[in-house]
Amino acid sequence: MPTAFITPVNATGADGEPASYLRREFEIDRRPVRATLQVTAVGLIEPHLNGRVVGDEVLAPGWTSYRHRLVVSSHDVTDVVVVGANAIGGVLGQGWALGRLGWEGARNHYSDRPAAWLRLELEYPDGSIDVISTDARFRAGRGGVLSNSIYDGEVFDARLEPTGWDHAGFDDTGWGEVELSDWPNDSLTEPIAPPIRRVEELTPTAVVTTPSGRTVVDFGQNISGWVRLNVTGPAGSEIVLRHAEVMVEGEADFETIRTALATDRYILRGGGPETWEPRFTFHGFRYVEVSGWPGQLAADALRAVVVHSDMVRTGWLETSDPLLNRLHSNAVWSMRDNFVGVPTDCPQRDERLGWTGDINAFAPSAAFLYDVRGVLGSWLRDLAAEQDEKGFVPWVVPDVLSTPSSPTALWSDVAVSLPWTLYREYGDEGILADAYASMTTFIRQVAALLDERGLWSTGFQFGDWLDPDAPANNPAGGKTDRHLVASAYLCRTTREMADTARILGHADDAREFDGLSERVRAAFVDEYVTAAGRVVNETATAYALAITFGLLDERQREHAGKRLAEIVAKAGYTISTGFAGTPLVTDALSATGHLAEAYLMLMETKSPSFLYPVTMGATTIWERWDSVRPDGSIHPSGMTSLNHYALGAVVDWMHRTIGGLTAIEPGYRTMRIAPQPGGTLTSASLRHSTVFGSVDVRWAIEDGVASVTVGIPVGTSAEVVLPLHPDGLIITMEAGEQSWTYPLGDTVLRDELTLQSSLKAVADDPAAWRRFTEVFGRHFPGVPLDAQAPEAAAMTIATLLEYIPGASPELARELEASLTTPGASS
Ligand code: BGC
Repeated sequence: MPTAFITPVNATGADGEPASYLRREFEIDRRPVRATLQVTAVGLIEPHLNGRVVGDEVLAPGWTSYRHRLVVSSHDVTDVVVVGANAIGGVLGQGWALGRLGWEGARNHYSDRPAAWLRLELEYPDGSIDVISTDARFRAGRGGVLSNSIYDGEVFDARLEPTGWDHAGFDDTGWGEVELSDWPNDSLTEPIAPPIRRVEELTPTAVVTTPSGRTVVDFGQNISGWVRLNVTGPAGSEIVLRHAEVMVEGEADFETIRTALATDRYILRGGGPETWEPRFTFHGFRYVEVSGWPGQLAADALRAVVVHSDMVRTGWLETSDPLLNRLHSNAVWSMRDNFVGVPTDCPQRDERLGWTGDINAFAPSAAFLYDVRGVLGSWLRDLAAEQDEKGFVPWVVPDVLSTPSSPTALWSDVAVSLPWTLYREYGDEGILADAYASMTTFIRQVAALLDERGLWSTGFQFGDWLDPDAPANNPAGGKTDRHLVASAYLCRTTREMADTARILGHADDAREFDGLSERVRAAFVDEYVTAAGRVVNETATAYALAITFGLLDERQREHAGKRLAEIVAKAGYTISTGFAGTPLVTDALSATGHLAEAYLMLMETKSPSFLYPVTMGATTIWERWDSVRPDGSIHPSGMTSLNHYALGAVVDWMHRTIGGLTAIEPGYRTMRIAPQPGGTLTSASLRHSTVFGSVDVRWAIEDGVASVTVGIPVGTSAEVVLPLHPDGLIITMEAGEQSWTYPLGDTVLRDELTLQSSLKAVADDPAAWRRFTEVFGRHFPGVPLDAQAPEAAAMTIATLLEYIPGASPELARELEASLTTPGASS
């Protein structure tokens, strides 16, 4: 008989219901050669065997589209079973299956009641097999876990935890019965993704008493996970832990978690040291406000436990700039914090959903940083299963929204772009083959929605979501026409679709999608692009899409690049793009010969900019670049998570441009290594574990001399473009390591600026011009310096200074210093 799910007869699955403790005893009379425990739950389960928690997974079985795919974990328990009496069971919590999910407040998305499934297989030396599995012989009781909720936290009363309940011999006569539940066994599946685990522990960096007299512990890093406490105190004292991402006016602030209570409570058993951590919740937090602690709280009484899918790290980048390094680290942390089983938008508020647009924007960065084949491969299966059932790609996967999702660019088209991104990273055609039906269904659905010109011009779109200039109450209402965004993205996805069809040998499909792609591109250009290359809306996002998606001819592209450079300069290199444009704007600049402007954007610190949050002490990527405003207050829009990876997608450009690594053939069988130093950078090192092995790139520039080292694995080859080389040297290398040292070329040194340079020469170097005008502006506020005026442009700085009444030697010195470009010309 197949193993059944069981549910305690008295379980209701209601909000605030205590966790169920399940147990059964069994006898064995000889040692098995192998004992394997398989376990899953509708809810969350912590399996126990003979007094121990089995395995090191937490929050099992994670979150999948449970009705289609409920993941079963397997544990080797050969050393845990004993000859004689054994006790098997587990603690069953609510988790994603029962608890509330989404800002709409709905709960019980998958079931009204929790259920557990356990199957212990004992294999004996003679090959015979015994199976102990969930059945009516299990008993159900209650213990310390009084309530548990992913969003709201866990309440544990240690006085109520029955001692020895998971050992053989425990008296469970007072416990209740279980009944068989009707959860379908055909949803059970093997895990594809690595399990969720405790991955790291952090010690407090500070314990502070706030102006209002509260105690707040700072762990120095915004994480997903929980706090473990060590305490000694009287029975019945209650410790309350409230988790927060940020301090405002010296107090822990709960604005960014919205309605999630994120509060754990622990009630002491008393009589000696006690250690506790929750098991059926997690929080997105850096700070914890502690109340009710018996006696003085010592910092070493608390640990922050970092919890997420236990993926293998595969990508690293370090540069000579500490702020950039922190930006990169913030993206890595936001990825870790948002890969708790499902790739989510954020880990802290009443959302934490698998928003498709967020992972679509971040996927290339994610695939560089960690091996995401498991987590994203599993998630794509859920996406395909839900799409198949519902007839649309949900905006969140697993789908828990109350209304059907309509097709949208960047969000729904993750169905095409994510398999494509994974294929490019890992070179595995199987990824495309698995997703092919989902990809083609989505594209054909959108094709049927196009207007007679071939544009995607109707229906809801998120557009350039969270454009900083959009009204605070309408994040989809940015400057860039949302249907321009939709048609541009469709050009990209139809091309990816055509290439996929070709790779998989579907020639007819490839022709169909090539035709569609060209039709949309031509319609896009006809509607949105002038013959010379202006793109309507004249926004950074419109230009970034047209350039990076290859929608323009050579002449238009050059012109568009220039216009984009002007637009970003006019914005003072702050960010004027949302989810659709931000991942692409630096690419569009560097690909059209405006590397300097790309670096100026990357290194800008004014709000809103890439580095502004870093200067504000951010340890993760924020939902808005100005989620926390310069005065320390929270942006009033309500969309202010401090842990959203989507906009961290800029690190993908950093990997390819600063680190210089781009795959030419999928999986990096052939690659291009072309670091492009810029800004104030003087060195960088990149490492990436590809499917072939490790790629290492290091470069440094010192005293006008460049040194470069490249190492690539067996089975690959690289085209290495030596940065700033006088002869523009390009080398093809096979497996192994090579180093080069050379003086920088004249072209670079010629750029050295002095007080004798013309204003035009300074203006041609955007970084220098910016520093120069800043100094000028400080000394002469309100006096414009316009390099475009021909007479002024021809003038040397020295002459300019002669004309300025009151120009001091100090001004001359500061201007001269502003001309030195660290790195390239030092
Ligand atoms: C999420 C976003 C998501 C968006 C789309 C937000 O609430 O946090 O990141 O993509 O909704 O509507």
